[in-house]
Amino acid sequence: MAKVKTTWFCQSCGSQHSKWQGQCSTCKEWNTLVEEVVQKEQKKTWESAVGEVPLSRKRAPKPQLISEINAAESPRLDTTNAEFNRVLGGGLVPGSITLLGGEPGIGKSTLLLQVCLNLPFKTLYVSGEESAQQIKMRANRIKEEAVNCYILTETKTQNIFRQITEVEPDVLIIDSIQTLQTDHIESSPGSVSQIRECTSELIKFAKETNTPVLLIGHITKDGNIAGPKILEHMVDTVLQFEGDRNHTYRILRALKNRFGSTHEIGIYEMLGHGLREVTNPSEILISQRGATLSGTAIAATMEGMRPLMIEVQALVSTAVYGTPQRSATGYNLKRLNMILAVLEKRAGFKLGQKDVFLNITGGITVDDPAIDLAVVAAILSSNFDLELSSQHCFSAEVGLGGEIRPVSRMEQRVNEVAKLGFDKVFIAPSKQEFKNTGTEVQAFSKIEDLVRYLFS
Ligand code: TYD
Ligand code: MG
Repeated sequence: MAKVKTTWFCQSCGSQHSKWQGQCSTCKEWNTLVEEVVQKEQKKTWESAVGEVPLSRKRAPKPQLISEINAAESPRLDTTNAEFNRVLGGGLVPGSITLLGGEPGIGKSTLLLQVCLNLPFKTLYVSGEESAQQIKMRANRIKEEAVNCYILTETKTQNIFRQITEVEPDVLIIDSIQTLQTDHIESSPGSVSQIRECTSELIKFAKETNTPVLLIGHITKDGNIAGPKILEHMVDTVLQFEGDRNHTYRILRALKNRFGSTHEIGIYEMLGHGLREVTNPSEILISQRGATLSGTAIAATMEGMRPLMIEVQALVSTAVYGTPQRSATGYNLKRLNMILAVLEKRAGFKLGQKDVFLNITGGITVDDPAIDLAVVAAILSSNFDLELSSQHCFSAEVGLGGEIRPVSRMEQRVNEVAKLGFDKVFIAPSKQEFKNTGTEVQAFSKIEDLVRYLFS
């Protein structure tokens, strides 16, 4: 009997070592080597499982002159999901391989099943996680009349390829790469070597038959896609689905895209019957724009290339216990502490003995520094217990010196503010002129000046 062959794989970078060692010599991470069983066979292409592939589906590559290559040759497939198309950079590229990551329960399977049901082509949805009945129940909830969608519950790649040659789908979806297993390697599903091998078989299939493949990938505790980092290098596009599970809004982001920009985002709302595309992101704010309270300020931020109006809420109260509490939801806590220090040092507000709670509504996490000024306004509004006008909004970064700093894409932000009918937007001084917007644009260079204007 053949001896069982094992090697050591680094769980971080995926490199292979012949023996155990404490530190991976490739990526210098400690304690990441795990022993896995490998047993390679000679033939390990995806065709070997099925014999000869129909010639019609094969594409024999030949060297071509770059000047003679027609870039418009392979048009993108329209997924009929505008937000999904936008994030992909205009639709699915034939022969591309896309990885969708996200926390458990965020809606990855729902999103891809919905895309799959709506596609006008023949699609094959392979699930290693749910039974066909469960998928059917989900599809019923999404309530789309689908005629071209095949469901397969299988985890062995060889069996999947066998079914593919029968069904000949135009789009292949794999619900989760971590459940797949190839016969060529004997380690368990989800291990580094399995993930790598299964992915490379799928890539080979995608490139040779020009079929787009969408993979779902699990993410680990720290938010990375489970499996080796090289998985992200292997695929063409890495998408991330994120949001707060207790809220309904979800954001789809491209972390890597070989065929488009990574600045675009897609916004969805999780409803009882699947995901709804949010084509006008400002409606998130409008639905929550009610009577004004002290401690509420509106920020004109950008998510990727799209303007997004966001409501910031702050609560400042006298600390009950010795150490004042600071908490931030949807905003970086370190940044909040910095803003509080700036307010104390540069503008003379004694917030050191106050509890400060900050919340971005809608369960959205904001990285755009343009939200800083709204954070300052919300905190001071709560501190003085004076409400701000609901017709005012803010868009600027705050520096360590208490200076108000300009942010990028000011014109787009001001246009969005005007579109939503705000009376006034507070920004940093800039040379740019904003004409004919119908909204007053007021610039301040120091926090003290803005505070004097707003609260006196
Ligand atoms: P799912 O797609 O299974 O998440 P993932 O594949 O990322 O683990 O989504 C599961 C959640 O979505 C579940 O908590 C229920 C919710 N959901 C809805 O709210 N409405 C729906 O129509 C569907 C199908 C799911
Ligand atoms: Mg799932």
